[in-house]
Amino acid sequence: MFFHGTSRVNDKGHLEIGGVDTVDLAKEYGTPLYIYDVALIRARARAFKEAFQKHGVKAQVAYASKAFSSIAMVQLAEEEGLSLDVVSGGELYTALQAGFPPERIHFHGNNKSREELMMALESGIGCVVVDNFYELELLEQLSKQRGKTTAILIRVTPGVEAHTHDYILTGQEDSKFGFDLNNGQADEALRKALSSSFFSVLGIHCHIGSQIFETTGFVLAAQKIFQKIADWKETYGFVPAVVNLGGGFGIRYTSEDDPIPVSEYVEKIIEEVKKQVSEQNIPMPEIWIEPGRSLVGDAGTTIYSIGSQKVVPNVRHYVAVDGGMSDNIRPALYEAKYEAVLANRVLDEKNEIVSIAGKCCESGDMLIWDLPLPKANPGDYLAVFCTGAYGYSMANNYNRIPRPAVVFVENGEAQLVVKRETYEDLVRLDLPLKTKVK
Ligand code: LLP
Repeated sequence: MFFHGTSRVNDKGHLEIGGVDTVDLAKEYGTPLYIYDVALIRARARAFKEAFQKHGVKAQVAYASKAFSSIAMVQLAEEEGLSLDVVSGGELYTALQAGFPPERIHFHGNNKSREELMMALESGIGCVVVDNFYELELLEQLSKQRGKTTAILIRVTPGVEAHTHDYILTGQEDSKFGFDLNNGQADEALRKALSSSFFSVLGIHCHIGSQIFETTGFVLAAQKIFQKIADWKETYGFVPAVVNLGGGFGIRYTSEDDPIPVSEYVEKIIEEVKKQVSEQNIPMPEIWIEPGRSLVGDAGTTIYSIGSQKVVPNVRHYVAVDGGMSDNIRPALYEAKYEAVLANRVLDEKNEIVSIAGKCCESGDMLIWDLPLPKANPGDYLAVFCTGAYGYSMANNYNRIPRPAVVFVENGEAQLVVKRETYEDLVRLDLPLKTKVK
């Protein structure tokens, strides 16, 4: 059995996280419940930052808040001195509500609206990562209207393929994101941006994919980017102050995954950037990265209550929980794999192989196939590990299932940071049929 962060088994045989018994949490806050190990998030944030400090490299580690955005989470990122990557007006709004320093916010997205861009400019965010020509024009217009210069990064697609699931590849040529590095579009974008007096071009950005276990992809991406930087220096006399290599650092979901420590990714990146910089004899840029999953993924655990079971003789034993694709769509969407234990009987002998079904009306709503588990009974609690990234943030109300609550635990204390949705919340935006109004 593999435990992440502060997770351990207490003397009752229960799963404990952050010094708090998860069975007590399930009883107090109900299930499904997301529990975050705050100490683990802090440790990851520090590991990223220290890896840069150790090498004396100026850097920004921006938490990709799409992995899990909430006011408390953003405040935790702030406490740890991270910057913040937001990709929508909603994530930006959350950050601003959390009191996050706007100058440390970076705004991403392949189709930012006029309203979103305006909101970003008016709140004084640090930079906009420009994704396409439409946005470049729109942003110039808006900056002109405000009579102010906007700091931008130019997002490019370096054509580097990361070894991961197809759906989460973003660095290849055939991508909806960014300016292509090889077909002249990135050059055209830079030329346009430099010719406008309303932009201050900080540098270049790329993101090659997600859940990546090797450093090769990052090194290749850095090489491609620096080839381009050499061209740009020659053609436009442009040398970037910032090189942002995105996120995508892999985590351990199951025993099949074997990630390297975050410091290794950072070290390889630094090594390559230093090499390129010295070859080209240009000043060392700031290196920015944008980890999402690797900051919060394995810090999150979901606790479910076990309900019905169905045994199909000689075929399969289904054990159903009180959530599913509504709180974790990753198995259905990416065939993502997870490990789990009975939170209230962690040490009991695992004498059955079961498959964990969700409660949604869809056959594909399965959370885990073929999981060794003790014989489970209604009322037992199932703890699914590593649900901290893209779990709550991709949760939905399919079948009008209310979204779960989120609790932070640290040093023996628990704090509710997102309330459970209620049935009233579910109909809050609904309006009655006109003819029935009276
Ligand atoms: N920066 C950019 C520009 C990105 O597009 C992403 C993720 C990140 C940073 C953070 O990547 P991370 O470090 O979390 O891998 N829903 C999928 C993941 C989609 C990732 C999209 N972009 C999943 O559940 O696996």
